[in-house]
Amino acid sequence: MRAIKVVGGRSLHGTVAVLGAKNAVLKHMVATLLAPGTHRLDNVPEIEDVAIMAEVLRHLGADGERSGNRLVVEVPEDLRPETPLDLVRRMRASILVLGALLARRGRARVAFPGGDDFGSRPIDLHLEGLRAMGAEFELRHGVLHAEAPRGLHGADVYLEFPSVGATENLLLAAVLADGVTTIGNAAREPELEDLAAYLGKMGAKIEGAGTSTIVVHGVSELTPGAHRVIPDRLEAGTYAAAAAITGGDVTITRCVPAHLRMELTKLAAAGAEVTTGDDWFRVVGPERPAPVDFATLPYPGFHTDMHPQMVALLSVADGTSIVTENVYASRFRYLGELNRLGADVHADGQHVVVRGVERLSGCEVDGCDIRAAAALTIAGLRADGETTVVGAEHIDRGYDGFVAKLRALGAAVERLGE
Ligand code: EPU
Repeated sequence: MRAIKVVGGRSLHGTVAVLGAKNAVLKHMVATLLAPGTHRLDNVPEIEDVAIMAEVLRHLGADGERSGNRLVVEVPEDLRPETPLDLVRRMRASILVLGALLARRGRARVAFPGGDDFGSRPIDLHLEGLRAMGAEFELRHGVLHAEAPRGLHGADVYLEFPSVGATENLLLAAVLADGVTTIGNAAREPELEDLAAYLGKMGAKIEGAGTSTIVVHGVSELTPGAHRVIPDRLEAGTYAAAAAITGGDVTITRCVPAHLRMELTKLAAAGAEVTTGDDWFRVVGPERPAPVDFATLPYPGFHTDMHPQMVALLSVADGTSIVTENVYASRFRYLGELNRLGADVHADGQHVVVRGVERLSGCEVDGCDIRAAAALTIAGLRADGETTVVGAEHIDRGYDGFVAKLRALGAAVERLGE
């Protein structure tokens, strides 16, 4: 059992630097598949999801070698176009190899991802878009067989929802497709813009990344690239929430505060004093947060992956907050765990009613996904006594040095188990 033990009551002080974004680097790793040769990625966090993606790449025939925060990926001419179930199950983002393999090999076999804690999370938008580009799919015994018998061609795709994954899969497919692809109602996330920047260095012709219309002029081949991954806004935001709930004073560096504009606005509305520079921001927490309403939305709206951390903060606010989750059908499992700590939170449809309590009281809680585990740790920083967050392996998936960084800021936190 991997767990995080927190003894609450200390306020956080100091400086913490963030690393590259998990949700960017995973896609960059898939992008390497588009060009044989040696690729170099810098600012890569040492997290479990990167290790799983490296396994996916190895399974396909590529090889990743890490040295510090640099990852060098060797991609062969020939790729094995299949990804097995155990890898897809361990990490949904494995589904992104679909677009890249269709582009490179004209076919792919990828285990069909199931549901997860956030609801069913379908991939219909990925498939619809790729179909418009000439791909055909058949689901056989849990494995998605994909083929583009006449190669991929450009298409005009309009997404029903600005899905990050679907936009990325289409982008990865379109860069080597024959002709022009337009992705309308595209996701505008900074991580996606960073993927487009990396693909651009590899020779791809992409316009409009970061806006809701992306136009891709397919090219016949790409060359290996070198890229520094953008900072992780979720890592930055998580430490910001931790600083705020403890009434601390923390400066978060090597980040892009502009990528967290909505989240920082809401932190300030909750009573935190927020000062920003180009690549840093400082959060001075209030004695007790003020209640704040917010709704999660695709970028540039409030990030769904900051929802649980923000609810942890608001659980001790002086009043009631209403949070609306618009991105996932069900992201509420952590609420019961927060209530075990003495919070008063409940979901009503897509809304979470957060009645602020004066104090939380430590106990053992289950951190059921990355952000839930982070949020429960944050709540533990404010709780009386000892909180044990079981499920630290989720933290390992997305946060490099989480416990060490919190300790350096003065938290009484330690890791239990392997
Ligand atoms: N959706 C569909 N059909 C599709 C694709 C998505 O209905 O074909 C729905 C999903 O079910 C979900 C919503 O659209 O309700 C958003 O999904 P999206 O495709 O935008 O998300 P994703 O690409 O699967 C990435 C991040 C998530 C993050 C979301 C939203 C990665 C590896 N994952 O997932 O990150 O929550 O975007 O911003 O980039 C995390 O880091 O903790 C995490 C879960």
